[in-house]
Amino acid sequence: MAIEWTEELATGVAAVDRQHREIFSRYSQFLGACKSGKGREGLLDILAFLVSYVESHFAEEEKLMREVNYPDAQAHADEHRAFRKLVLSLREQVAEHGPTISLLTDANRRLLDWLVDHIKKSDRAMGGFVRQQWGLL
Ligand SMILES: [Fe+2]
Repeated sequence: MAIEWTEELATGVAAVDRQHREIFSRYSQFLGACKSGKGREGLLDILAFLVSYVESHFAEEEKLMREVNYPDAQAHADEHRAFRKLVLSLREQVAEHGPTISLLTDANRRLLDWLVDHIKKSDRAMGGFVRQQWGLL
């Protein structure tokens, strides 16, 4: 499994794209650790990174949506809430069962699926609207 930020994921809003790249680059490092058999040790670290980084990233997106009166802001923020819940529940599972291989695989699949899907659909839609409001489209 590899993860790479590509133009397909671009929202066109520079600050948002920069933060997405940061998330992807941090996640890629983690996947590198998984490949060399060190994924289990790194699982709590990546979850801690996601909890803190994504928190401020989501807050920034939500502020942006308010600024431009984005019509789908509520649904978008609900998706963010679901991701937070996912990360926290994975963290609880690791605390309870330890970083097992099946938990590691499951976490990678669910986190990456969510990120790619959310960015491709919801963040790109938001980016289009924001750029339109900014007179960039
Ligand atoms: Fe988002």
